[in-house]
Amino acid sequence: MISKDLALAEKLLKEGNLVAIPTETVYGLAANALDVKAVAKIFEVKNRPTFDPLIIHTNSIEKVRQFVEYIPEKAELLAQTFWAGSLTLLLPKRDIIPDLVTSGLSRVAVRIPKHPLTLTLLEKLNFPLAAPSANPFGYISPTKAEHVEAQLGNKIPLILDGGACEVGIESTIVGFEEGKTIIYRLGGISVESIETIIGNVEIRPHSSSNPNAPGMLESHYAPRKPFFLGDKNVLLKTYLPKEIGLLSFSEFQEDFPLENQKILSSNKDFLEAAQNLFSYMRELDQMPVKVILAELLPEENLGKAINDRLRRASTK
Ligand code: TXA
Ligand code: MG
Repeated sequence: MISKDLALAEKLLKEGNLVAIPTETVYGLAANALDVKAVAKIFEVKNRPTFDPLIIHTNSIEKVRQFVEYIPEKAELLAQTFWAGSLTLLLPKRDIIPDLVTSGLSRVAVRIPKHPLTLTLLEKLNFPLAAPSANPFGYISPTKAEHVEAQLGNKIPLILDGGACEVGIESTIVGFEEGKTIIYRLGGISVESIETIIGNVEIRPHSSSNPNAPGMLESHYAPRKPFFLGDKNVLLKTYLPKEIGLLSFSEFQEDFPLENQKILSSNKDFLEAAQNLFSYMRELDQMPVKVILAELLPEENLGKAINDRLRRASTK
């Protein structure tokens, strides 16, 4: 059920149920992070492997301090600058956080999301919410309540309706190793804006070489249809133009039917492109086309995070 009923959301969560919640990045599938039984339901409903840890969400730095051993100085600076917002920090966890939430890792991922409805909900709760994106594991993340309804609607009692997500791609995940700042997932806060605050960072967004982030799998965010990046001429050897859906940054392609094309931002605005990305991928997946072809964006600002999603979504 899609509804704006905050009191019901609060009641359901306190009773150990799942509720889908709006955030500025994507919709999350939330449960009481301190209740192992409730957290287990998240993995079940999403069909998510338990080696993929969850982010916990709360509404103040004071509450974050209850869940972590300490906050390094650089993390504190980033938190002050970007919270509430699309930044997730990996911090040494206290015992109160169940191992199921962190997949047995010693750090917990924490974030204060920036959505008025969810912040009000978090204020009322005396526990943090564990919440992965509210999609079946591996599929495109939801940026509207209707996206959650379409796939998980029959498995959860409530989807809290907060409208379309403003940022549209997931949070940037940042941690610290031996004094170095590492970005484990590119996301809604750009590398450039993080470096302005704390200087150079290392980007390490792949799972294969990175046992600390088991969930950042190479293949993710994927539509059901074959999804390709790159050269249209290669696809045209196998498919007719009307069989190909196109996802482009700013311009329509004249030699393809217009109705099978989505433009992320005609003004080349990265913010608008990120907002539209997952929604348009879903729409293309539902069009009567056989394959989808996407174009990479310039590798700067949010273009980096958008390209990361496009690459992981692409058919290997
Ligand atoms: O914007 C977001 O971050 C959204 C909204 C709902 O907050 N959440 C989200 O969660 O994207 P999820 O579960 O789809 O992606 C979280 C990523 C996973 O790839 C997971 O591996 C990583 O965060 N992660 C979580 N806890 C971690 C930990 N302790 N150490 C390393 N990586 C962790
Ligand atoms: Mg996800």
